[in-house]
Amino acid sequence: MTPIKECLINKNTNITPIWLMRQAGRYLPEFREIRKVNTNFIDLCLNPILSEKITLQPIKRFDFDAAIIFSDILMIPFGLGQNVEFKKSFGPNLGKIDLDSLFITDEQKFTKKLSPIYELLKNLSRNEKLKNKDLIGFVGAPWTLLVYMINQVSPKNGLSSNFFTDKKLIINLLKILDKFIKIHIKNQVNSGATIIQIFDSWAGLIKSDLEQYLYRPTLSLVEYTKSLGVPVICFPRGISDYNKFCQIIRPSMINIDYNVNPKTLIDKFDIPIQGGLDPKVLLTDKENLKNEVTKYLELFKDHPYVFNLGHGILPETQIESVEELVKIVRNFK
Ligand code: CP3
Repeated sequence: MTPIKECLINKNTNITPIWLMRQAGRYLPEFREIRKVNTNFIDLCLNPILSEKITLQPIKRFDFDAAIIFSDILMIPFGLGQNVEFKKSFGPNLGKIDLDSLFITDEQKFTKKLSPIYELLKNLSRNEKLKNKDLIGFVGAPWTLLVYMINQVSPKNGLSSNFFTDKKLIINLLKILDKFIKIHIKNQVNSGATIIQIFDSWAGLIKSDLEQYLYRPTLSLVEYTKSLGVPVICFPRGISDYNKFCQIIRPSMINIDYNVNPKTLIDKFDIPIQGGLDPKVLLTDKENLKNEVTKYLELFKDHPYVFNLGHGILPETQIESVEELVKIVRNFK
């Protein structure tokens, strides 16, 4: 059994596997090298040879316990026919949403458009370098995807003022997304993903109707993934009540953000926990890094725990800090 499955399924507390969100990305010089000459991000995600290379880059360097495929949550809107571009030092920029085009997309068309991602997974699942490691596939949660699809840019760059007013559009989209996210999960599992992570990066924006926008859509995906026999990790970043989320959703593992006090979760649930450390800690000195990492390791001594961050690793992170982090986690007794 892989170290993460040991932790996740057997609830083994004697090991602390480690991988990092956004481990395949811009903090790696070898990624930037590939990116420099491949200026179209979507094309890169649809190039199985290069995305395999990128997926394996952090494994080669740090021997992490899992590889997460090099792809993006916005490949779903792309698969549904929405225009998706990534602009340098700005982020995603989506075209106007066209409901007619969404309604005429069927499973076959969607799967065909995203088939290079499934080819990537098939190739990786045969790769010797991933022996005894997990291969993580992922999706964006319906809420976070619809935020990008309606707002067209990251909420970091501002949220359009009429975002919440078109309830009908939101409800229609939730239905369509439920269907196609499940198709994307099924295709990834059939192609070799051994774990699925659901990223709800903008869950913290939901102020009311959590039932409709957060719990119901997430539970639907979690139960579906479990029915395929694959563990599912949830990351509802920024929500105020992780306790209630765990109680309702019961994910196979919960990824916490750095504002969560893990103590309350540990005391209440036997659900394995992942993550927590503020990625900014990796930008500080060795001593501080050791102190902060050790806090998490101590806290989780008797609870199944996979080391990870409270959000994606920052592009300005130094390689040496990641090496140090891995050393601290692996040497902790
Ligand atoms: O984790 C990994 O290493 C696997 C690959 C991965 C990427 N995006 C590659 C990527 C994963 C798991 C994601 C998830 C993702 N994408 C999320 C959820 C996690 C989170 O960070 O909140 C979100 C919200 C997106 C959407 C997205 N993609 C944004 C907002 C941006 C631009 C800003 C940013 O954070 O980088 C991207 C681009 C992106 N996705 C890059 C990478 C490596 C950077 C591309 C580049 O400019 O070179």
